[in-house]
Amino acid sequence: MKLPETITIIEVGPRDGLQNEKNFVPTDTKKEFILRLKESGIKEMELTSFVSPKWVPQMQDASDIVDSCLTDDSRDFVLAPNEFGLRRVYETGCKAVAVFVGVSSTFNQRNINKTTQDALSDLEPLISQLKERGYFVRACISTAFYCPYEGKIDPEDTLSLCKKFVEIGADELSVADTVGRANPLEAYTLFTLLKKELPDTLMTAHFHDTRKLALANILASMEAGVDRFDTSAGGLGGCPFAPGATGNVATEDVVFMAEEMGVSTGIDLDKLSRAIDVVKPHISRPIESGYYRLYELNK
Ligand code: HMG
Ligand code: MG
Repeated sequence: MKLPETITIIEVGPRDGLQNEKNFVPTDTKKEFILRLKESGIKEMELTSFVSPKWVPQMQDASDIVDSCLTDDSRDFVLAPNEFGLRRVYETGCKAVAVFVGVSSTFNQRNINKTTQDALSDLEPLISQLKERGYFVRACISTAFYCPYEGKIDPEDTLSLCKKFVEIGADELSVADTVGRANPLEAYTLFTLLKKELPDTLMTAHFHDTRKLALANILASMEAGVDRFDTSAGGLGGCPFAPGATGNVATEDVVFMAEEMGVSTGIDLDKLSRAIDVVKPHISRPIESGYYRLYELNK
C-alpha cells in the first residue's frame, strides 16, 4: 500500500464545523476551542469566515476571533467570498485566505448567489490583489464529485475549474466532497487525475462523512499521492446550503488511523479530545466519532 510518511491536517472545525450550528456558540468558547486545537499540534486551521451574517449568523464574530486567535506558529485561514469580505480580512493580521466556488452552478447560486462563471470572474482580480499583497491563497472547490442539486459531476469539469484557479494564482486547492457522496474509487480516480495534471500545486482533500466513507476515501486519496486533509474535530460541520450533508470527517479518527499505520501527523490525541470537550456542550447533536466515544467512556 502506498502511504506517505507524514500527512498535514488542516483543521476546519472552527469554521466548517461550527457554521451549521443553529445555536450561537459563544465567542469565548470558540476562542478556547481554537487555542486548544493549536495546543494539540494543529499547524493549519480555518479559523472563521468573513461571509454575510445574514446568510451564516454563526460567523458574525469573525473579526473578534481572528484578532484573538492568530499565532505565528500556524497558518491560520479565513474564508472570504467577495470584495466586501476581503476588506474585512485586510483589517486583520491574517495572511492566508480561502476563497470558495463549487463546480456546480446550482450549488453556487444557493451558496453565494452567483453562477460558477460569475464567481470566477469576480474572484480573478481579488486573487491577484491578494497575491500582490503577499497572501497565501487557498481555493476550496466544492461539489467536486457530486452536487446536491445537479447530481454527479464530471471529473473533467472539476479538473478544468481547478486548473483555472491555479492559473489565476491559487497556492492550494482544497477539493471537496461537499455532500459526502463519493466512494474510494472515485476519490482515487479524481485525485490521480488532479495530481497528474497539477503536480506543482498543493493538493488537499476535503471529505464530509455523510455515508461514513470519508476514512476510506482518505486512504484512497493517500494511494493517489495526497498528503493533506481537511478534517474537523469531533466530526462537526456541514454546509448550510448543501442539504443532507453532515459533518467533515473527524480529525481524531483520521489522526488515529494515520498514526496506527505509522503515518505521522504531529497531533496529540488526548489534547485534541480535550479541545472537543470545550465545544461539545454547545453542539446540538451527539459527537459520534469512534475515537472520541471511547475517550469519553474511559474518562
Ligand atoms: P448577496 O446577498 O448576494 O450579497 O450574498 P450582496 O453583495 O447583494 O450583499 C447583501 C448584503 O450582505 C449587504 O448588506 C452586504 O453589505 C452584505 P445589507 O446592505 O443588506 O445590510 N455582505 C456582507 N456582509 C459581511 N461579509 C461579507 C458580505 N458580503 C455582502 N463578505 C454572499 C452574497 C456571498 C455575501 C452570501 O451569499 C454569503 O455570505 N454566502 C455565504 C456562504 C457560506 O458561508 N457558505 C459556507 C461556506 S462554503 C462551504 O462550507 C463549503 C466548503 O466547506 C467546501 C465543501 O465542503 O464543499 C468550503
Ligand atoms: Mg465543507
